[in-house]
Amino acid sequence: MEVQVTKDYYQDEERARKYSQMEHLWMDGEDRVAGFDLDPSWTVIDVGSGPGIMTVPLAKRCAKVTAVEPSPHMVKFLQARAAAEGLTNIDIIKAKWEEAEGLKPHDVVVASYCLLMPDIKAALLKMNGLARERVYIYWFAGTTYWERTRIDLYPMIHGRPYHPGPKVDVIYNVLYQLGIYPDIEVLGQGRVREKGMSMEEALSDLRDLLMLSDRSHDRLLREYIEKEYKLSGDALFRPDCTVRVRLSWKPFQK
Ligand SMILES: C[S@@+](CC[C@H](N)C(=O)[O-])C[C@H]1O[C@@H](n2cnc3c(N)ncnc32)[C@H](O)[C@@H]1O
Repeated sequence: MEVQVTKDYYQDEERARKYSQMEHLWMDGEDRVAGFDLDPSWTVIDVGSGPGIMTVPLAKRCAKVTAVEPSPHMVKFLQARAAAEGLTNIDIIKAKWEEAEGLKPHDVVVASYCLLMPDIKAALLKMNGLARERVYIYWFAGTTYWERTRIDLYPMIHGRPYHPGPKVDVIYNVLYQLGIYPDIEVLGQGRVREKGMSMEEALSDLRDLLMLSDRSHDRLLREYIEKEYKLSGDALFRPDCTVRVRLSWKPFQK
């Protein structure tokens, strides 16, 4: 079965900008870092840092954070946010995790919602090998809201089914086969977007999610929004069935 992944999704500047402007994601990152056991002298690698959702709160609590991020747009937004916060203890490696070279061991390795890596076993082993104290991974269980939408609408728009990507059960099994038995914490939805959308915003959001470059399917999308979204006042709220999960473990060195 072909699994369709959108692995270079954030190579697009507008998508990276929108992601970096979502306040609920920043609050969720702060919540996640608040749950970490960290020493102020520690160093952290943040794999797939994006605009710094985890990097920024981590840099406030640790000696140094090394962010590994392949999207130049995400890097730009991370640099801007770090500067605005007056943080000078963030190094940035502009690369994919699997291609990042010359990294030295850090105390902690974090990989938050960025596991679309072709050789996941090698990627997990690299995280394990570069962490002295703890590895934290965040991923999904079940069907995410964006997958739900694509499953519902791909056949009508693209004439083929949409097959979602691997979830946390697969990651757990790969770790298990490596002799790693991680702690698992089911986080539920996490913070959700508090601000509703106008119909125009909801349409634009769906066009992007469904890889549509024009308005030719707007009628279908509008019907979908009217059927599936909640209306509060004149603001539309997308249903969110996403379940987030944290896996973490004490690394072993062979
Ligand atoms: C959904 S964002 C997550 C950002 C942030 N970690 C967070 O928790 O909000 C995924 C990020 O992973 C990056 N990414 C995608 N493939 C990657 C790879 N192979 N190695 C490292 N980062 C990757 C993307 O550019 C994007 O910035």
